[in-house]
Amino acid sequence: MPFGVIYSAIMPTVDNPTEKTLAELGVNDAQGVAEKFAEVRARFDRQVALDADGIRNLMLQEAWLGSDSDPASSLRNFWVGRKAGVLTLVTENWLKKSPPSLKGVVGKQFNELKTHIESKLEEQRKRIEEKTEASAATRDRIDLSLPGVLRPVGSHHLIRQVFQEIEDIFFSIGFSVVEGPEIETPYYNFEALNIPEFHPVRDDMDTFYLELSKGAATPLLLRTHTSPMQIRTMEKQKPPVRVIVPGKVYRRDNPDATHSFAFHQIEGLAVDTDITFCDFTGTIEYFVKQFFGPSVKTRFRPSYFPFTEPSVEFDVSCPFCAGTGTAAGGGTCSKCKGAAWIELFGAGMVDPAVYGFVNYDAKKVSGFAFGIGIDRLAMLKYGIDDIQVFFQNDVRFLRQFP
Ligand code: PHE
Repeated sequence: MPFGVIYSAIMPTVDNPTEKTLAELGVNDAQGVAEKFAEVRARFDRQVALDADGIRNLMLQEAWLGSDSDPASSLRNFWVGRKAGVLTLVTENWLKKSPPSLKGVVGKQFNELKTHIESKLEEQRKRIEEKTEASAATRDRIDLSLPGVLRPVGSHHLIRQVFQEIEDIFFSIGFSVVEGPEIETPYYNFEALNIPEFHPVRDDMDTFYLELSKGAATPLLLRTHTSPMQIRTMEKQKPPVRVIVPGKVYRRDNPDATHSFAFHQIEGLAVDTDITFCDFTGTIEYFVKQFFGPSVKTRFRPSYFPFTEPSVEFDVSCPFCAGTGTAAGGGTCSKCKGAAWIELFGAGMVDPAVYGFVNYDAKKVSGFAFGIGIDRLAMLKYGIDDIQVFFQNDVRFLRQFP
């Protein structure tokens, strides 16, 4: 019976002479014994020289090799397996069943074959082991020529880019940048800006006050605008003053497409001995043209802020429909909603009352201030319709502004 149980039904098998006795094989002298042993040995030598694939092929062709999933152990089992290996069969069928006259020869041949097979199988085992170790070593070796891990380099957030753009425009006309605290006292956020405690304008800025322990020297709040830095700057330096103040500001607004409880402003302040309303409008016009392009027009409308007098609201002619209110393909311009003008920011000449808080002589100095909302400006310029995307840090958005 062939050993290859699985394949035997479908594959032709090669005769295994060790399944028969020597008599059955027609062997009856020392010469014949030697030939049979040589035949078995030659078959072994062919098989032991095969690599794993070779053995697998053999397993398919010669079903008697068995079907162990590991080719080497399948081979080993076929030859030296204790129950039905070739050596066992030779002992059982050839040695034990040989006539007494041949016992000596068969025994000698058997011993030689056994030594040969066992030593060759041991060599093969070592070869396989070394090969496995070698390939593991190759796998583990560090290849210094491989490129390193490339960590993606980030880019500036769009808000920071717009800050930069605006800062550059004001640098070019002699302004410098100062920054200030986001936690303020009511004095800097309101009082020194000519907004006394019960002034109704405080209601416009729903304010975050910090929870402080009882007996704190002063209440603290998250600044509602960058204007406190007007005061801090003038306290620190004498005129001339030309500064811009980029920064975060906070108001108790519910988040929606155009509102956020945190947003960004750039404050501007210029104070000197001879600054006029013309310097003011000229500066603003220069900025707007630099930012939106030379063809836009500006206009201002009267407004009200306690710390500027007169106060104005600056508008820019809609840069998207060239101030016509009509979209390029006809129909109403979606940016200005057909108004042809877009409201930009609040500004004005510094109210003389403010100079009183910083010991400037209101009779000798004059100046202007403005507060630009950065988020709105960025949304306008880059066609963004939801302010929330600035704060969500979704890289799919951020990557659009590398
Ligand atoms: N601080 C004002 C605001 O946030 C803007 C402003 C700044 C107005 C400077 C005039 C002068 O609404």
